[in-house]
Amino acid sequence: MNVPLPGEAHRAKAVRAMFDRVAPSYDLLNRVMTFRIDQVWRRRLLSDLAPRDGEALLDLCAGTMDVAALARRRAPGLRIVAADFSMEMLRRGVEKTALPASQADAMALPFLDARFDLATVTFGMRNLDAYEVGLAELARVLRPGGRLGVLEFFRPESSGSRFVHGAYNRLALPVFGRILSPDPEAYRYLVASMERFASRPEFEAAARRTGFRDVRGTTLFPGVCGLVTAVKA
Ligand SMILES: C[S@@+](CC[C@H](N)C(=O)[O-])C[C@H]1O[C@@H](n2cnc3c(N)ncnc32)[C@H](O)[C@@H]1O
Repeated sequence: MNVPLPGEAHRAKAVRAMFDRVAPSYDLLNRVMTFRIDQVWRRRLLSDLAPRDGEALLDLCAGTMDVAALARRRAPGLRIVAADFSMEMLRRGVEKTALPASQADAMALPFLDARFDLATVTFGMRNLDAYEVGLAELARVLRPGGRLGVLEFFRPESSGSRFVHGAYNRLALPVFGRILSPDPEAYRYLVASMERFASRPEFEAAARRTGFRDVRGTTLFPGVCGLVTAVKA
């Protein structure tokens, strides 16, 4: 079955079903496909956001809750809520961390306005039907002055980074996907969703339009991974 890309019909349902299917092998795949650098990127995100004990953190598109686990290690008194629309991803996250989780759609969050001091989204925004709607929801649930951190495989812009990105996507990813994943289709989706997503500057502009200030972007791995931090205006 082909998993629809942004703008294609019945997308959210198919994306959720795909994450439910890949949940059992998700952590292993992540580590192998990124040579464990994924955890270095998550730590970098948290070190930029600097969560403090007593603050409330929303980890959105939390998946198997790697960010939530690292955040708790950094600040054991942090009040963490992990949210995702895939029950199977969350189930694994809760088994791993014993932290609270909420099944929720990033496009219509079931949280009160200004409920959180911090929000993180790692490798989740790319999957939304309309990432600007997701950004606006994040702006709504963050208090003024609240901090947002997004890690993502933004669409590369320069020809050098497009080359690195293309080589990795076409040579390495399909091999890992075939060997390790029960669902090779998920890896077709992964590659295509990266190629269709916003570039980092486009995403930063969208964050400014949806209620964020002090928007800052950094390339963590050229052609592959970028970090955007912002403050709710
Ligand atoms: C690539 S995984 C990332 C998981 C985790 N944040 C990480 O760093 O490994 C993307 C996650 O986004 C979730 N997701 C995609 N669209 C969503 C939506 N509309 N609402 C909530 N979660 C969504 C998926 O279920 C999946 O768990």
